[in-house]
Amino acid sequence: PLQRTLSIIKPDAVKKQLIGTILQRFEQSHFTIVAAKMMFLSREQAEGFYAEHEGRDFYEPLIEFMTSGPIMVQVLEGEDVIPAYRELIGKTDPTQAAAGTIRADFAESTRYNAVHGSDSPESAAQEIAFFFTDDEICPATN
Ligand code: CMP
Repeated sequence: PLQRTLSIIKPDAVKKQLIGTILQRFEQSHFTIVAAKMMFLSREQAEGFYAEHEGRDFYEPLIEFMTSGPIMVQVLEGEDVIPAYRELIGKTDPTQAAAGTIRADFAESTRYNAVHGSDSPESAAQEIAFFFTDDEICPATN
């Protein structure tokens, strides 16, 4: 089915000037960018976005990292884009990520792992609504 997913280019990748390279991979995979913006997450926003991980040992460093610099959030649209995006980025731990995936190529560690993508249609809907209003999303024309 036609799906939308929430994609984040994280502070490590923004600092390394990889925005263009990563967006190019999305477009080469025929994902349509239907919304995009740069933002600097507040602590409150980061805690809200990652609320499901509260209490985990990696939670506090994750919040520190995600508020350490600007991110670029996008909504991507395409046929089965939710699993297709996750395949393109590779596993959370870059040492486990398949060759040629974004994380294998650009992530330093499980924490500094360059990108985020929604893991299900339910989380995609929730995560898209967290960052974008309906009128900020431009319907795909192709
Ligand atoms: P993300 O896809 O943004 O979703 C949750 C994030 O928490 C994940 O990417 C990683 O950046 C981070 N994360 C998940 N598991 C661990 C872990 N074991 N150690 C450090 N960070 C983690």
